[in-house]
Amino acid sequence: MSDIGRSILPGADYTDPAVFAAEQSAIFERRWVWAGYTHWIAEPGSSRPVTVAGRPLLLTRDLDGRVHVFHNICRHRGMVLSEEPSTRKRLRCPYHFWTYDVDGGLCGAPYWNRTKGSAPDDVTRDALALLPVTHAEWAGMVLICLGEPERTIDEVLAPLRERWAPTDLDRLHLAAEDTYEIAANWKLVAENFLDFYHLPFVHPQVGPAAAALDIEDVVLADDILGGCYPRGAAGKAAKTDTPLPVFGEALRDRQDIFCLFPNTLLFLEADWFQVIAFDPVSVDRTVEHMAIFVDRSAAAPEFEGARKALSTVLFEVNDQDVPVLERMQRGRRSPAADRNHLLPQWDQITVRFQTLVAASLEGRRV
Ligand SMILES: [Fe+2]
Repeated sequence: MSDIGRSILPGADYTDPAVFAAEQSAIFERRWVWAGYTHWIAEPGSSRPVTVAGRPLLLTRDLDGRVHVFHNICRHRGMVLSEEPSTRKRLRCPYHFWTYDVDGGLCGAPYWNRTKGSAPDDVTRDALALLPVTHAEWAGMVLICLGEPERTIDEVLAPLRERWAPTDLDRLHLAAEDTYEIAANWKLVAENFLDFYHLPFVHPQVGPAAAALDIEDVVLADDILGGCYPRGAAGKAAKTDTPLPVFGEALRDRQDIFCLFPNTLLFLEADWFQVIAFDPVSVDRTVEHMAIFVDRSAAAPEFEGARKALSTVLFEVNDQDVPVLERMQRGRRSPAADRNHLLPQWDQITVRFQTLVAASLEGRRV
């Protein structure tokens, strides 16, 4: 029995709010994490509030088209500045009507000197600009680091960029997106994504067990874990008379599936790219933001049927995972959840994922 293997993380790590809080500070506030999509702020002058590790943040695109990420609170009394996506060029705090430009600059603070028409001088305005957050753009996403980054984003992404070098991820066109609220811990969301064993049972439409048996585990880095399987899963089910144009010829024969730790789940096939990124809002609730991208040339009307067929299949697959995740979460309340068995022959990537989480929390447990 000794070679069966054991789960690294106990059940309580999926149900205990104290563990969740420790993960938020040790992982989500320290690492580069997904914060949103660039298409959420497509137009100059637009903005959208998001949260990372429970921290209110604001994504904006300035009038020159540059993306910014700020702490989403007014510099005066700390009220959350924006609670809704906006296309106004300015954001106004509802408390004392301080206004900010989408580049973060403070542009108005009424009755500054207790007189009508008075305003802070330029130096004061600069000092009271919205506070920026370290960020980067990649493959249609905005990635941020709330803390002092231990590695540059280029260092983090290098293994993926190298593997996907023939694929031009600057050509992405959004085909469809959806949001899922799931009553499950974020780690189950990631672990399920890395679980290829369940595919023929939960998603029989994407291929027989033989397809899952073909999947190879791939470890690109400690924090880029996943697998590669022959073309034929979701893509096959979505084939139509007008095939989608490909991003990269090199991916014609395979599909890559990676978790960019901690909260970005990526699928890449020759003709589509899917991101399931998530915000762990509490120990037993996770909000997924799923986006399906195709090549820019596939935005043309003749590909509408193919885009729709693809997104129908991919949403259907994700729909099938929701009850699985929620039932897995309920199972974590059992004391027997500490004695689950991860199998060496199927679950090596999950073992690596759990080991990484455990290592991140070392010395930080409460
Ligand atoms: Fe699944």
